[in-house]
Amino acid sequence: MNTDKIIITDMGSDSSNKSSKNSILCLGIESSCDETSAAIVDNNKNILSHIIYSQIPEHQQYGGVVPELAARAHILAIDEVIKTTLARANKTIDDIDVIAATAGPGLIGGVLVGWMAATGIANATNKPLVAVNHLEGHALVPRLKSTSATDSSTNLNVEFPYLLMLASGGHCQILLVHGVGKYELIGQTLDDSAGEAFDKIAKMLGLGYPGGPIVDKRAQNGDKKRFHFPRPLCDKPGCDFSFSGIKTAARILLDKTPKGDINDKFIDDFCASFQSSVVDCIINRLNNALHDERVKSATPKTLVVAGGVAKNSAIRGAMEQLANKFNMQFAAPPMNLCTDNGAMIAWAGIENFNIGNIVHEPVAPRPRWPLTEL
Ligand code: KG4
Ligand code: ZN
Repeated sequence: MNTDKIIITDMGSDSSNKSSKNSILCLGIESSCDETSAAIVDNNKNILSHIIYSQIPEHQQYGGVVPELAARAHILAIDEVIKTTLARANKTIDDIDVIAATAGPGLIGGVLVGWMAATGIANATNKPLVAVNHLEGHALVPRLKSTSATDSSTNLNVEFPYLLMLASGGHCQILLVHGVGKYELIGQTLDDSAGEAFDKIAKMLGLGYPGGPIVDKRAQNGDKKRFHFPRPLCDKPGCDFSFSGIKTAARILLDKTPKGDINDKFIDDFCASFQSSVVDCIINRLNNALHDERVKSATPKTLVVAGGVAKNSAIRGAMEQLANKFNMQFAAPPMNLCTDNGAMIAWAGIENFNIGNIVHEPVAPRPRWPLTEL
């Protein structure tokens, strides 16, 4: 890959692209998987600029992210992404108050690239640096911008504590978010994450990578009652998930279906039936979580979904219904802040900076870094 091939996407900024004079500006950098992204966000929840270079086309031919290729692509893209982010906000590095970058968890080659860039800039300019946990980026971004499932123009206020369904490619957890850096694990997957299940189903059907958006789209035209996939653990108490049984059932169904019967209608119905089992599992587990004593005693007012899988309209819709049943507000990030992005890292940078959580000595990036270890 050469740098001429880097096609970056301007994710836009808030209408005025201006921040008031006294606001704190954070430059956030994300590089933990297959997106090199940066954004400038202020403490009044304005996104001044937001740039993403997506590597998806480079990994597509392999059916998933190739870590070494990802790391190399981050190296080639990072300077351009940061420079463009500053330029689109009409800022220079001197205007920035705080630097933040993902320091884990994630593919360590990529994390290293973003973290080293941030460390270099912070050291050279003598500015405060925040080591952001990528999962905390997902977890806090609904406080930057949030909509309901049905009305994307709403801007909701998400206050602590809230009950969070964190569903991404690498993680699937229900967390009680008490505050910045304060996460209580209520349930988690025992095997695959929800995003992984979507990706694997798409791969089985030969639909491409990443699978979530494709399966979601195909499901919209499908009959969710045509095939029955299991709902693992749903007849058991607790808030943990398991998705590997659904994947196995899908494999068995596919293997016993004559090739000639696997047409567009079959695939649409297959995707809808699979997605419906994932939705049911999520709702069943969240329902249990909302009855859990730890959750009840914290009285969260908002049910939140975040992470790449939060883009799924069936999951957003079903979670909104559940929230209504419990007289809670439902909140989800706008679509472009669900999957990995620099704005969520910049916002987590602001939230951590506000409580004085900055780096005082060199920090080694971490491939694994559970939210409960913050
Ligand atoms: O949060 P994310 O961008 O990366 C990680 O931190 O892992 O999440 C990526 C995951 C992928 O598994 C992708 O298939 C899934 O989010 N995803 C979706 C949808 N859009 C993305 N899953 C279901 N429905 C979607 N519309
Ligand atoms: Zn992520």
